[in-house]
Amino acid sequence: MQQFSVDLNKCGTMVLDVLELIKAQHDPTLSYRRSCREGICGCCAMNIDGVNTLACITKVKESPQPLVIYPLPHAYVIRDLVPDMEQFLEQFRQIDPYLKRPGEDNFLGMRQILQSPRDRSKLDGLYECIMCACCTYSCPPYWWLGDKYLGPAVLLQAYRWVIDSRDMAHKERLAKLRDFYSVYRCKTIFNCTKTCPKGLNPGKAIAQLKRLLAGLMNKEKPDLETTLPNPCHGEEQYPCRKE
Ligand code: SF4
Ligand code: SF4
Ligand code: FES
Repeated sequence: MQQFSVDLNKCGTMVLDVLELIKAQHDPTLSYRRSCREGICGCCAMNIDGVNTLACITKVKESPQPLVIYPLPHAYVIRDLVPDMEQFLEQFRQIDPYLKRPGEDNFLGMRQILQSPRDRSKLDGLYECIMCACCTYSCPPYWWLGDKYLGPAVLLQAYRWVIDSRDMAHKERLAKLRDFYSVYRCKTIFNCTKTCPKGLNPGKAIAQLKRLLAGLMNKEKPDLETTLPNPCHGEEQYPCRKE
C-alpha cells in the first residue's frame, strides 16, 4: 500500500481523475486499466472504499479520511490495480456469448431476425451489462470456487442469451449449465446486485436460470418467427446452408 496526497483542485471529480493525477505527477509507474472514462468499457473496475465499482463514475467524497483503493478482491493481481481477468474471460467464452441459430450460420449478420417489442423488452436489465466483473469479484462462492462456479456476470450473460427470442440454442445452453457447480453454487447472497455499478440485478438473472434448469419455467416461443428462406426482398443471393 502506498499513500499519496493530491490537490483535488487540480483534477476532475472522479476517482479515475485522481489516479490520472497521481500517475502524471507523483508516480508514473502506477498501473490500472481504463479506456472510456464514462462507465461503458468496464475496465476501470476496482475496490474503492470497500466497494467494487468503476473508478471513472465514482465521485471523490469530501472526507477527512483517505480514499482506500484496492484491485478487485480475490483476483490474482498482475500489477497495482490490474487484476488477471483470464479465468473470467475464459468462462465468458464458455457460454458462447453470441446469437446461435443452428442451421442458419450462413445468414447470421446478413439478414435481420425479427423480434417483437415485447420479446425485446425481456433483454432490458441484461443487455446493459458491460462485463466489468465488479459483481463476480464481490461474490463469496466465486472467491472460493471461481474455477468451477461461473459467477454472476457470466451467468447474467448466459441468461441473456438463453432468453433472447432470436436465439434457438437455449436447450443446448441450459444443458451445458446443468451440473453441480456452474450455477448452483450461487447462494443468493445478492452481493452482486448490491455492487453492480450499472444498477443491474445478476442475482435475479441467476434465479431465473435456476427456474429454467429446474423446469419451473420454460422459454416462451418467440412472438415473431423469421423463417427460411427469408421473405425480405434481396436476400435470395445468400446461399442457404441446407442447399
Ligand atoms: S452485472 Fe453489473 S457488475 Fe456485473 S459485470 Fe455486468 S455491469 Fe458489471
Ligand atoms: S446472489 Fe449468487 S451470484 Fe450474487 S453474490 Fe450471492 S452467491 Fe454470488
Ligand atoms: S474507464 Fe471505461 S468504465 Fe471506467
